[in-house]
Amino acid sequence: MSKPKVILTRKWPEAAEAKAKELFDAVINKDDHKMSIEELKEAMRNADALCPTVSDFQIDSEILNVKNRNCKIVANFGVGFNNIDTEAAKKAGVIVTNTPDVLTDCTADIAMVLLLSVARRIGEGERLVRNREWSGWCPTHMLSTKVTGKKLGFIGFGRIAQAVAQKAHFGFGMEISFYDPYPPSDEIIKKFSAKKFDTLEEVLRDSDFITLHCPGGGSNTNLMNKDRFALMKESAFLINTARGDVVDEAALVQALKDDVIAGAGLDVYAKEPTVTEELLSMNNVVLIPHLGSATTETRVAMGLRSLANVKAFFDGKEPGDRVA
Ligand code: DGY
Repeated sequence: MSKPKVILTRKWPEAAEAKAKELFDAVINKDDHKMSIEELKEAMRNADALCPTVSDFQIDSEILNVKNRNCKIVANFGVGFNNIDTEAAKKAGVIVTNTPDVLTDCTADIAMVLLLSVARRIGEGERLVRNREWSGWCPTHMLSTKVTGKKLGFIGFGRIAQAVAQKAHFGFGMEISFYDPYPPSDEIIKKFSAKKFDTLEEVLRDSDFITLHCPGGGSNTNLMNKDRFALMKESAFLINTARGDVVDEAALVQALKDDVIAGAGLDVYAKEPTVTEELLSMNNVVLIPHLGSATTETRVAMGLRSLANVKAFFDGKEPGDRVA
């Protein structure tokens, strides 16, 4: 029997591509170009499975309903799947899966990197040294904000948020609070001695740091807007490792300019890879290029997880990470 044809929309780490070739008739994106909408449609016609990712054009109704579609499963390389119109996929009878768990720790590490970097002015300090502008230690040089013992508020308290809480609470003695419309078990809340707020607004008012861990898209787009920034403490920082669209970037820029909040650490942006000139020119922001899951170990594991979902499907089993 011939192997199912699986198209990977972007280049994957070598070990994950090797596994794809071993299991399937895999089509690899050798030059790692961003596939055009026409190429994605062609892939839906030619492949049995498509493995897209966050930086592709959205796998929308038009692509899912392309004439003579052969593709039966879209196995996303990524835990977030706002790059796929899951409602349209359901209607079209196409299965959608994601890659949870395997990127939890590394994404949580990056949230901590941003939190520590923005509070302790690491980006600024590094630029100073590299620009040969450092004139030496003195008692008032580059004073920043202490992290240990401060209040860390989570918007969304799922897997990645809990991994951040683990590091922040047990490593840095931070007090944990959260708002999540689908709260975790009492056992988890107790583990972190966490405060559960019934509204987003209460977390914003209470916290020294706010970290976003909700999905992007839908009603979460521009969740952090002008009014909500106004509720945060003037001394507070915003950390975003979730999705760029969750933050109204224009409102964030204004809040930073007007000292409504103290700073922000961003891994994700509304229109990646574009970062607005205003953000680029600000010193009280730390900006990194969507690195949450970017370790070799995690990216290989994401590829293997995506392939495991495809394999389960073609073995006649329910894929473990089905989201639609
Ligand atoms: C994820 O898995 O959601 C990462 O942000 C990469 O897409």
